[in-house]
Amino acid sequence: MELKMNQAFDVVVIGAGPGGYVAAIRAAQLGLKVACVDAWKSADGGPAPGGTCTNVGCIPSKALLQSSEHYEHAKRHFADHGIGVSGLSLDVAKMIGRKDQVVKQNNDGILYLFKKNKVSFFHGRGSFVKATDQGYEIRIDGAETSVIVGKHIVIATGSNARALPQVAFDEQQVLSNEGALALTEVPKSLCLIGSGVIGLEMGSVWRRLGADVTVLEALPNFLGAVDEQIAREARKAFDKQGLKIELGVRVDTVESSKKGVSVTYATAKGEARTLEVDKLVVSIGRVPNTDGLGAQAIGLALDERGAIKVDADCRTNLAGVWAVGDVVRGPMLAHKAEEEGVAVAERIAGQHGHVDFRLIPWVIYTSPEIAWVGQTEQQLKSDGVAYRVGSFPFLANGRARALGDTTGMVKMLADAKTDEILGVHIVGPMASELIAECVVAMAFRASSEDIARVCHAHPSLSESVKEAALGVDKRTLNF
Ligand code: FAD
Ligand code: NAI
Repeated sequence: MELKMNQAFDVVVIGAGPGGYVAAIRAAQLGLKVACVDAWKSADGGPAPGGTCTNVGCIPSKALLQSSEHYEHAKRHFADHGIGVSGLSLDVAKMIGRKDQVVKQNNDGILYLFKKNKVSFFHGRGSFVKATDQGYEIRIDGAETSVIVGKHIVIATGSNARALPQVAFDEQQVLSNEGALALTEVPKSLCLIGSGVIGLEMGSVWRRLGADVTVLEALPNFLGAVDEQIAREARKAFDKQGLKIELGVRVDTVESSKKGVSVTYATAKGEARTLEVDKLVVSIGRVPNTDGLGAQAIGLALDERGAIKVDADCRTNLAGVWAVGDVVRGPMLAHKAEEEGVAVAERIAGQHGHVDFRLIPWVIYTSPEIAWVGQTEQQLKSDGVAYRVGSFPFLANGRARALGDTTGMVKMLADAKTDEILGVHIVGPMASELIAECVVAMAFRASSEDIARVCHAHPSLSESVKEAALGVDKRTLNF
């Protein structure tokens, strides 16, 4: 095959997920000549930039969470508002079609942004060929094959779902996130292995739509990384909804046939169980993706997990080669990938890009939502930090009552001596939005008193953040 050797760039970004496409745009804004290479194909074989996040992650999962929440509200909660619904029906194919449209709008949006910022987009798989005096040669295998050269390379190739050793994904019966987001009918019964973020979000979607959902988790504690009190509140709510979560299990065998999937496992007490379900979702974490990247062609160092080794500034072991997002250490979150992408672009342009890894918020988009930033109470205890706690239940918040959604609380942890906020943990309505104020406050090293003194609109859920701050000084007004 003839190779076209035509273009040299200041920066070549491999991968157009949130880490890559944002790095490409920021580098172009800073006056650099930028190419971005991405292999993802839409159903018709065309480009679909946006990575896992846009195609089979954040965006489609939130579209289905929204649709399924509407359905559940119509079925269970509208009556409380005096609204009767008769003949309620569900068209899963249409729901999935809407989700696909939302994804496509995001794909098209990124292609538009590339054009607007003069980023050259290449649709195909990029791999390292060799280092030269001009930079690194990247071969692109797409509809045609070409070679481009970049003085700097930003690797943003993301991650893939981890499979169980017992069974491979077939996306028919044994599903990764991809299959779990594309079911065209509601399974009668669904098992999810892993009660992490995907297990809870996808479990919620299909439970709301009518599936009998069981989540099997290896660890003895529910949501171990979450503040224990918040995790307990969330667990209570999920139990009430009928999401069956079994902790401390050991999955032994998984057998898949056209009829369904049979999972044998040992319970926490060591009892042997078999679960027969229509579909199985395996959500036991993700692995960094360096498939076909040609890392060895240039001597790029990987760590023992297969992630690309980087320092705190996302520099790899090779001068001019950077890596960001899920393919490197740290939490696998879209906003973390974006922050790293921007910071790397700025460093390449000679600026001082910065990411504060202590202040990356987490959100689990279940109902109630779970969101947090900073340290948990159990971390502060084990670090021997003296702290004060303030909390406020949504039950005592006027807006939450009006919404009809009073589950959960805001909990704020502040340094006992300086009053600096050390962590905020929320379970409840719109926790995903409420956490932003807390991240900003912590970025400015605010004290709980700072938040307590700020006027918050009434009636709003955000008053619960202010009340939790007041609670640190034991002076909540409404509880
Ligand atoms: P990715 O988004 O994985 O993008 C990598 C891109 O690189 C892909 O397009 C891939 O095709 C391409 N690529 C790989 N190798 C090559 C190559 N050699 N040549 C060319 N292209 C290549 N995070 C959140 O913050 N919030 C959420 O709500 C959220 N929800 C999620 C829901 C699900 C179901 C899943 C699976 C993940 C979710 N995440 C969420 C995590 C989030 O999707 C990832 O953290 C994020 O996508 C990582 O971005 P990235 O740019 O590092 O990689
Ligand atoms: P996860 O790391 O969140 O959870 C995996 C769970 O599986 C853990 O609780 C783990 O103990 C359990 N597990 C591992 N092996 C097991 C086994 N053999 N049997 C039973 N349980 C087992 O991973 P998940 O849910 O797959 O999601 C991957 C990543 O994607 C997340 O860590 C997160 O970074 C990202 N994500 C983020 C979202 C968000 O921000 N809202 C939504 C979905 C995913």
